[in-house]
Amino acid sequence: MKTDVQIGRIGSEVDATVIIGLFKEERLEESDAAFMDASLHRYLRAVLDLGDFKGEDQEVAVLYPLDQAPPGRVILVGLGPRVEFSLETARRASGVAVRRALKLGVSELYTAVHGPGGSVAPDGPGGSVAAGFELRDCAQATVEGLLLGAYRYDGFKTGDSDRTALESVAVVTPQRAQAYEVRDGIEAGRISAAGTTLARDLSNAPGNAMTPRKLAAAARKMAGQTGLKCRILTRKDIAKERMGALLAVNAGSEEPPRFIVLEHGEASDGVDTLVFIGKGITFDSGGISIKSSGGMEEMKHDMSGAAAVIGAMRSIAMAKPSLHVVGLVPATENLPDGRALKPGDIISTRSGKTIEVINTDAEGRLVLADALEYAERYSPAAVIDLATLTGACVVALGSAATGMMGNDDGLQDRVRASGETAGERVWPLPLWQDYHDQISSHIADVKNTGGRWAGALTAGAFLEKFVERPWVHLDIAGTAYTDKSKPYCPKGATGVGVRLLLQLVEDWKS
Ligand code: BES
Ligand code: MN
Ligand code: ZN
Repeated sequence: MKTDVQIGRIGSEVDATVIIGLFKEERLEESDAAFMDASLHRYLRAVLDLGDFKGEDQEVAVLYPLDQAPPGRVILVGLGPRVEFSLETARRASGVAVRRALKLGVSELYTAVHGPGGSVAPDGPGGSVAAGFELRDCAQATVEGLLLGAYRYDGFKTGDSDRTALESVAVVTPQRAQAYEVRDGIEAGRISAAGTTLARDLSNAPGNAMTPRKLAAAARKMAGQTGLKCRILTRKDIAKERMGALLAVNAGSEEPPRFIVLEHGEASDGVDTLVFIGKGITFDSGGISIKSSGGMEEMKHDMSGAAAVIGAMRSIAMAKPSLHVVGLVPATENLPDGRALKPGDIISTRSGKTIEVINTDAEGRLVLADALEYAERYSPAAVIDLATLTGACVVALGSAATGMMGNDDGLQDRVRASGETAGERVWPLPLWQDYHDQISSHIADVKNTGGRWAGALTAGAFLEKFVERPWVHLDIAGTAYTDKSKPYCPKGATGVGVRLLLQLVEDWKS
């Protein structure tokens, strides 16, 4: 895949396929000719005067100018009302446009920058300038939408694929002076897409192709390619670290557990350490508290938190921020067996805290407890965990937002802001004492379920008992995968979390 900036007027290339975004109910102005080939400008004005294309959000039309203008195809995509524009609009517009292009068998694309990029402001870079949006950021969002919208997971389809893959993207900008901003945005978009597509690949892989060992191997391979430090703890190391909860969840599985440590930069004075932890249950059957069979196949995605952390570490390795960032992944299957963890069992975590296991299907919080305690050794400025932790979170927020809990309002504000910028929305949920009360055990320090109500919050309260540093918990059960395709994500894993973590790291520096 080649992605580059091209200085010039969009639509000048003969036979090319160009993507142009247009705001709702805005006609092309005279001044728009500044960023567009003159004959294409004339042609588009005439077409738009017909009024068929409204510019509604995600509306798409394919035009064939033939001898009227140089391009072979023009893919018009609606941006909706100018006042409602956000970077998410640009991602979605790119996503629907690239999907149409691939469907037509087109693999080489020219695109305007959406936002400042469809129609034009007089002093602008060429493009409808939506107030408050930087060219660089719009270029990033445009590229993200293209690369993520073109994503497919078809590693298990045999036979000749008749699917077109994206081969090259040229982001066209009229002014040389602004090319470096666009180039910067393109690079940022490539970096975030690289991590996100890795996360999608890891999460989409079936349980038999993504065991804890294979997940660890994938992390190690990525680390080798990007220059991250990587340490994989095997069962022996995990036992030496006294991670009793991870071992307990693993007891019902023939596959050995792994604990993955990825590291960017190193601890030093004046450099903050951030620790990201991802739930890595490579398949969650529920264990002895077995799940019903309907939809159980979706539980191959129960390592999406791990996928997000590994994907984010890939992006971070490429972006090279001057920060110390550590990624931790406790990985195991959760299966029933003669040796499996049982309801009523009492186990102890790394630091010695005891847990009464009420339900073996509440396994994510168990493995996270050990990882959260492990994170303390880095004296981190912030710990963020990501986990497909509870069905209750899906009941509360659906797929519209990731549930956020934590012990530090300032950190939660930062995470929320980064999520907003990255197009990965999170929404705060409370961790009141009431939820802690629900998980008190008469026989151990804590129990692993809190009854029927507030399931996302009793899970969060459980995790809170194992942290001492500023910490945020992101429950991605509703956002990690989708059962229907979205503008820049096909059905399956979304890679959620990667862009948020990357953005948080970028925002942290400043
Ligand atoms: N991995 C599941 C949570 C989940 C459910 C993720 C649906 C994605 C979609 C987790 O391990 C689990 O089973 N949680 C239980 C907890 C309960 C036993 C307290 C749940 O949510 O039902
Ligand atoms: Mn479970
Ligand atoms: Zn689970």
